[in-house]
Amino acid sequence: MNILILGSGGREHALAWAVMQNPKCDKLIVAPGNAGIARIAECAALDINDGGAVVQFADENLIEFVIIGPEAPLAAGVGDRLREAGLLVFGPSAAAAQLEASKNFTKEICAAAGAPTAAYGHFTNAASAHAYARQQGAPLVIKADGLAAGKGVIIAETDEQATAAIDHMFDGAFGAAGAEVVIEEFMAGEEASFFVLCDGTDVLPIGTAQDHKRVGEGDTGPNTGGMGAYSPAPVLSQAIADRAMDEIIRPTMAEMARRGTPYQGVLYAGLMIEDGAPRLVEYNARFGDPECQVLMMRLGAQVLDLLHACAEGRLASAQVNWADDHALTVVMATQGYPEDYVKGSVIAGLDSLPEGSWSMMFHAGTTDAPGGMIATGGRVLNATARGTTLQEARDRAYALIDQVNWPEGFCRRDIGWRAL
Ligand code: AMP
Ligand code: GLY
Repeated sequence: MNILILGSGGREHALAWAVMQNPKCDKLIVAPGNAGIARIAECAALDINDGGAVVQFADENLIEFVIIGPEAPLAAGVGDRLREAGLLVFGPSAAAAQLEASKNFTKEICAAAGAPTAAYGHFTNAASAHAYARQQGAPLVIKADGLAAGKGVIIAETDEQATAAIDHMFDGAFGAAGAEVVIEEFMAGEEASFFVLCDGTDVLPIGTAQDHKRVGEGDTGPNTGGMGAYSPAPVLSQAIADRAMDEIIRPTMAEMARRGTPYQGVLYAGLMIEDGAPRLVEYNARFGDPECQVLMMRLGAQVLDLLHACAEGRLASAQVNWADDHALTVVMATQGYPEDYVKGSVIAGLDSLPEGSWSMMFHAGTTDAPGGMIATGGRVLNATARGTTLQEARDRAYALIDQVNWPEGFCRRDIGWRAL
């Protein structure tokens, strides 16, 4: 099979690494890719949000299967264009990707499906939002409705913070994404991520994970895209996973199909777990980054068979071969992230790492330059490892980190602390 993966992050490096190990993969192109991906696959410059350009590229390169990594091309309908052109695609239609692209849409689906989630109100002007916030009282969660790169959520612990957050959003802090605002009840509990393949009809769980969103040790400081993750998530027991399937995932999928917009791809459910009961925090229409890195580390080559079965609507007869293992990934970021940081610092020490099926350095924001490999993003490297215990996985991941020579980079030293 000739395969095209769209994206350029650590998520796509991990997907490419797993897919390549499957003998059914004859040729793999990643667009646009990064310097790490270029070590294992062909990379191609391509505007992945331009459906026409992707269709033409796939045509010219005799691609048979396209795996879409990030949310932007999904929301832009690139999957739809590819399917219209007769290509096999892993990833939801733009209509189904609304589960990530619009928080209000997801709330409406949950209500229709009876899926447990936070109580909420949806507002298009500040006055009505303020009235609702006053009536509900803090703590409240104020969210920009549209895609805001994971940054459009403010947890207001006091009424004053809620007032300021509402004004901030309607003043345009998140651009068009904040023209509509969702205000939610604050849910207490422990958060975990649940990943399920959906082919429009059938569903297949493929793993659980927890991530560390805050930049600082002890889960302090500003939010980031994720500073590390591990799988499985101990809090998401089999019993809770079963409940999440029965009460949240399957009803959501049934409601999407009933509306004529069946969901096909990976559904990433953020769950809040309290007293043994899961409630939905949010859906994403893609793999998490860096959660994907730990899932790929554990699933390995079978991922291609699973994604292919998903795209062809064959999940009813698919199954996951589980190893009784753990995986953990540590993100190395450029100093300053998630605020301003300087691009272009040189990273050394990456060529002699002990990589294999137990540990891999996935690249998220690297570029080859004349003076060596340079950092070109906020989150730059994902030291990822597997072990028979979480401690073993963690020791291997930090052993990778310790070989990297990159003075301008940093990482958290406590990834996995909640589970250890
Ligand atoms: P979201 O982008 O909707 O996932 O929100 C980002 C983060 O904010 C989540 O991962 C949670 O940690 C937190 N959050 C969002 N909604 C709620 C809620 N209703 N109650 C408590 N925490 C929340
Ligand atoms: N790590 C969180 C996300 O991918 O959305």
